[in-house]
Amino acid sequence: MSVVTTVLLILSTAFITFFFIKWVLQSKGKRYPKGPMGLPIVGHLPFFGRHPPSTFMKWWESYGNVFSIRLGSWNTVVVNGYKAVKAAAEHPNDAFSGRPKFISSEVLAERIHEDVFAFGNFSPVYLKQRNLASKALRLFTSKRKDVIEELVTNEAVAFADSLVRKFSTSPGHIELEVQILVVRIIYQFLYGRGEQVDFDRHVKIIYREVEEFNKFTGSGSALDVLPWLRYIIPWKVDALRKLTAKGDAIMWEQVQKHYETFSADHIRDVADAIITSDAEDEENKDRYVLTRARLNLTLADLQGAGADTTSKTMLWLILYMTKYPQIQERVFAEINTVIGKSRNVELKDKPNLVYTNAVILEVMRIVTQVPFSLPHFSMTDAKIEGLDVDKDTVVLFNLYSIHHEKEFWGDPEYFRPERFILDDNSFIRFKNNHVLAFGLGRRRCVGESSQK
Ligand code: HEM
Repeated sequence: MSVVTTVLLILSTAFITFFFIKWVLQSKGKRYPKGPMGLPIVGHLPFFGRHPPSTFMKWWESYGNVFSIRLGSWNTVVVNGYKAVKAAAEHPNDAFSGRPKFISSEVLAERIHEDVFAFGNFSPVYLKQRNLASKALRLFTSKRKDVIEELVTNEAVAFADSLVRKFSTSPGHIELEVQILVVRIIYQFLYGRGEQVDFDRHVKIIYREVEEFNKFTGSGSALDVLPWLRYIIPWKVDALRKLTAKGDAIMWEQVQKHYETFSADHIRDVADAIITSDAEDEENKDRYVLTRARLNLTLADLQGAGADTTSKTMLWLILYMTKYPQIQERVFAEINTVIGKSRNVELKDKPNLVYTNAVILEVMRIVTQVPFSLPHFSMTDAKIEGLDVDKDTVVLFNLYSIHHEKEFWGDPEYFRPERFILDDNSFIRFKNNHVLAFGLGRRRCVGESSQK
């Protein structure tokens, strides 16, 4: 054995021993619900299988609504089924509304040396930031719906034309087209259209950033949950830093431009709404400060957070329509009957498009694009369904389990939009309320109102 191999062997043994001891010490005295057996160091990661939500369904059956696993180095509790997830997400003390300090959140926080929005911890500053972000989004989704409606309609019409041009004679992949479409819409929603050259360039950069960022933060991403990997593959963390910097550069450039061209009488887009919102809170000034940098950085979160979820949901929708042509025909017939061919679909048509809505909901249910929500973190010792979950535990809300709960849905494995509709063609409201693809509780998706 060469000297180098021997040194490497000693170093890795020391490394593994160090983290094993750390893990044992971390878990000592902590109380967790029972769960499946895992391995030291990597925990349950090797057992997730090809489709982790299906594996978690089996564990749910064996260990009940609240069970423990280890997500790499992190003690983790998984909460399953509507009742338990709702109780945990809406815990009166917000016990489970925190976020773990995974590597990706650390990298995001480094930028301004304070917590950020979507991946940051729960605090009064977070609440203030969320409140302002929701207000800014609502301005264009409820009060001035026309802005977003016009934007989406124009993009959708151009998109449909381009699909016909490209794919009517030969097949092709539409994944990239759909992803770019969604980024184009989100970008204009946040910043307006601006110069064509910047627009095209920025859209491409954001699209790539989102794709790459998801590889770092997807459920069970090794780098995120095995913090010691940063010493073994430090270039991966640097790559994440560089990636984030690219997205940020666009956001800061836009913020600068918005400051320069701003007019208080005409709030043009979400960026205008954010840069004019009052970060300071006179009443709570002593308790916390929401800095201007942190507030402006909300835009970077909005820029990335909705692109992947929305485009993948659309792609699933297209896939299901391809798989079930008779359902596609029925959607088409409904749109034809309710709206006709002389105008485009508008938001106000939504209540009359019962079947079409049911199809969208059914896709969101059966797929569950973010199966375990974003990871939550327990900020105090608390209980879920009477079981102890101690402070500093990662908490996963298994949204997939809610959408596939047999007692509620009967036949959750089947794609059956009719499950949402009564004989008189009205919507079954309480079923609609069990489709929780945007999460629930205080950390639920802030973009939800822009999707509904
Ligand atoms: C079909 C589309 C979408 C789905 C399925 C979806 C789903 C989710 C889910 C499950 C969460 C985690 C909730 C939790 O932590 O409990 C989330 C968080 C978030 N989403 Fe979405 N989302 C979508 C679109 C969007 C859009 C369009 C935006 C922005 C305009 C957005 C912005 C965010 C932000 C900022 C958060 C973090 C909220 C926080 O930590 O308080 N999402 N989303």
